[in-house]
Amino acid sequence: MTIVNIDDMREAARRRLPKIFFDYIDGGSFSETTLRANRRGFDAWVIEQRVLASGRVPDLATTYLGRRHALPFMLGPVGFLGLYRGRGELLAARAARAAAIPFCLSTFSIASIETLARDGAGAAPGDLQFQLYMLDDEGLNQELLAAATAAGVSTLHLTVDCTVTAIRERDVRNAFRSARRPTPAMLASMLSRPAWLIDLLRHGMPAVEALERHPEFGQGALEQAVNLSRRMDRTLSWAEVDWLRTRWPGRLVIKGVLSTDDALRARDAGADAIVISNHGGRQLDGVASTISVLPRIVEAVGETFEVLLDGGIRRGADIVKALALGASGVLLGRAYAFALAAGGEAGVTRAIDILRTELSVTLALMGLDSIDALKAAGGGVVRRADDPGTGG
Ligand SMILES: Cc1cc2nc3c(=O)[nH]c(=O)nc-3n(C[C@H](O)[C@H](O)[C@H](O)COP(=O)(O)O)c2cc1C
Repeated sequence: MTIVNIDDMREAARRRLPKIFFDYIDGGSFSETTLRANRRGFDAWVIEQRVLASGRVPDLATTYLGRRHALPFMLGPVGFLGLYRGRGELLAARAARAAAIPFCLSTFSIASIETLARDGAGAAPGDLQFQLYMLDDEGLNQELLAAATAAGVSTLHLTVDCTVTAIRERDVRNAFRSARRPTPAMLASMLSRPAWLIDLLRHGMPAVEALERHPEFGQGALEQAVNLSRRMDRTLSWAEVDWLRTRWPGRLVIKGVLSTDDALRARDAGADAIVISNHGGRQLDGVASTISVLPRIVEAVGETFEVLLDGGIRRGADIVKALALGASGVLLGRAYAFALAAGGEAGVTRAIDILRTELSVTLALMGLDSIDALKAAGGGVVRRADDPGTGG
């Protein structure tokens, strides 16, 4: 099929993946209200068109998380990439590195952070990023942190919106993260996707490398996924954030903030940045879209505290709106997970190219010659769709 945009990538992923994994990526929690809200939230903002203003090809480089990056978007943490493609984490990280943008490895990964560091697949030398889920196993948390330190991780994202895993009804129906062994229905759906199966088995039966020394989590990735989601630390509190801040000398990002009060609390706890996120509509269903809360959070925390955003980014225009409203950068989730499933490293590269081109065209038609100019123009280049504007 011809791939023109990220929605096409989703369709290509749907054709290649067993249903259990496509649904895991695509789905949200409960009624999937927030999942839909994230996309619709972008439609609530319109972009100002300015003509005959700039003829230059826009410069898309910009600064976030302490560095200048080639593009204002990065690959955020997505669990179990290595189940959608053999060695999926490494492939995604390599595509990110080639595009000179960061990749953040999830705690729930087939490849460990050591493997990623050894492969040299981090986005740039010295810019390896890791996402930490605190589990109810203190020893394992310490091990994960020690591994991140040894691997030279620059930026740690502590995800805080997942202390209890929400009910994702598609996963319940497919028995993903409840069945410890493939059910007959799972096996049938896996066998119906031979290209996926052959690719995966070429790399051996997938298992979470970080759990190699933890047989209590089970053997293969399916069983480990069940146990990991049951072992989230539901008592996680700001006390652990304070503890982590004293323990982690690198950049600390709190991922999963949606309220102004929590954003201020994260800033006061010494975090370097937050990611406004509702976990892509996979956790608390019914909460607001991320883009809708961005302006008030940015206003509350002030210019000196960095705010990033994710949730529903599928278009270059979505990224433009988030940056205009004060995000320093954005994280992709499903956009690149679908691309990885559909086309491996080349697929992720293609998704990055699509968004790069969309961004470039959008900026040019707005009369802006760089992402930095967009950030400087800020709220002046977008307005709420129901606001007629001044016509200036
Ligand atoms: C399949 C899948 C797995 C995810 N796994 C993680 C994870 O392990 N850790 C984490 O912090 N966020 C995880 N997320 C959330 C993403 O980091 C991000 O917040 C979300 O995908 C953004 O929404 P979008 O995919 O609609 O762009 C996951 C998302 C998806 C779709």
